Amino acid sequence: MIRAVFIADGNPRLGAGHLVRTAAIARACQPAPVRMVTREVNALHAWAWADLPHEVLPAATIDQTIAEARRRWPGARLVIDHYEARDLAGAVVLDDGLPRDLAAAALVIDPAPGVRPQDHPAVPVVGGPAWVPLRPAFSGPPWQPNDGPWLVALGATDHSGGLPALVAALRPRPMELLTAVDPGLGLPVHAHLGDDGLADLLRRCRGAIVSSSTIALECDALGVPLVAVQTADNQARLAAGLQSAGVPVFPAGSWGAIATATPVAAHLGDGLGAQRIARRVLEPTLEDLRPVRWADADLLLAWANDPGTRAASFTTVPIARPDHLRWLEASLLSPTRRLFIGWADGQPIGTVRLDDTPEGAVVGITVAPEQRGRGRGRQLLELLRAWATGSVPRLVAWVRHDNPASLRLFHAAGYQPVRDEPINGHPATCHHLSL
Ligand SMILES: CC(C)(COP(=O)(O)OP(=O)(O)OC[C@H]1O[C@@H](n2cnc3c(N)ncnc32)[C@H](O)[C@@H]1OP(=O)(O)O)[C@@H](O)C(=O)NCCC(=O)NCCS
Repeated sequence: MIRAVFIADGNPRLGAGHLVRTAAIARACQPAPVRMVTREVNALHAWAWADLPHEVLPAATIDQTIAEARRRWPGARLVIDHYEARDLAGAVVLDDGLPRDLAAAALVIDPAPGVRPQDHPAVPVVGGPAWVPLRPAFSGPPWQPNDGPWLVALGATDHSGGLPALVAALRPRPMELLTAVDPGLGLPVHAHLGDDGLADLLRRCRGAIVSSSTIALECDALGVPLVAVQTADNQARLAAGLQSAGVPVFPAGSWGAIATATPVAAHLGDGLGAQRIARRVLEPTLEDLRPVRWADADLLLAWANDPGTRAASFTTVPIARPDHLRWLEASLLSPTRRLFIGWADGQPIGTVRLDDTPEGAVVGITVAPEQRGRGRGRQLLELLRAWATGSVPRLVAWVRHDNPASLRLFHAAGYQPVRDEPINGHPATCHHLSL
């Protein structure tokens, strides 16, 4: 059964970025069976989607293609990377920063550096440097200083048309161009490179002058010093994020300033974003165990500051709201933490937190104070087990000895005590549940 369907178009008007991003995530999902779907196929697809199985579903609008994909692959997760898509219900959506209603999406991936969960309060979101969907080659060996040429790239199709003027400003330094369309400037041109080929090209360049698009993030992941050029409106947030990390960023047209700027390697990401996103794409979705959104901040704070919760925790002081918001922001963007809210009878019944550790995923559980003592803890742990089976090898729970309700709860759910160890001075037992 097809597990994930990736929907994107690529052409000279839209560029190739959507194809490249979806390919990165799809490859990270394999060996799970995936399908790539587009409205019309051209040379960009042949290059970016190369060995990935794809289907062409021609339609006047991308929403019609999405509807057809839902019909053909009813159980599959849709991953949509398209500015014009509006039918986003239940899908993983890659956001470009253009305003549109994302509320129906199951998860929004916003790779712009500097993105915050508060930018998308009504929907689960991950984003920022740890979540940039790059191809595997970009988590390989880092760039080292060298005397190679400069790499110049303003998008696969030079949509802004600025390449000749940029090259003129940069002459006479040694340069090589990355573009699908040779502008005839008498310089070496690279086109349709495989993933490894592009990563190798970046590694042997002394620096890069590139549009503030995926290529800038590819440079960043390898540690290549770069100067970024904003060539389209939808690059504004990525450009701002690069700038706040110290990368010189200029609008297209400022060729003189670009030519004299000193390139900077920002070291924002580690190139593993595609693997992280793939995990989210393939994980089960349970109607009654929903990922936390920014809009849940005050509900979680109320539960966390309930006296019973504080007394059972390993740090017992009440939590101030600004501290909670900082914690929530970091937690929602974290590659190693998951927060969920469990639901029953249309009501939120409590929250579970999972933290990836080498020992397993460490569970934290809080039942809504007004719901305690009615089996809600058991329900939450059952939901968690159903969600985690197949995605997490082991659940781990630390419980204080003076929390009999919690001890009974975890024992009844099949968690086995493995060792005693005090945490913050509180005697506690570590439990395992192997899945
Ligand atoms: C601990 C907590 C998660 C339990 O959830 P709950 O929904 O209230 O628990 P349940 O109703 O499912 O009951 C769990 C078991 O504990 C028992 N129990 C409940 N309160 C108890 C108490 N004060 N003393 C002893 N046992 C108690 C219940 O009888 C039940 O046992 P049983 O299944 O053998 O009958 C919840 O009370 C809570 O959120 N507490 C604050 C935060 C916390 O302690 N988190 C756990 C940190 S490890």
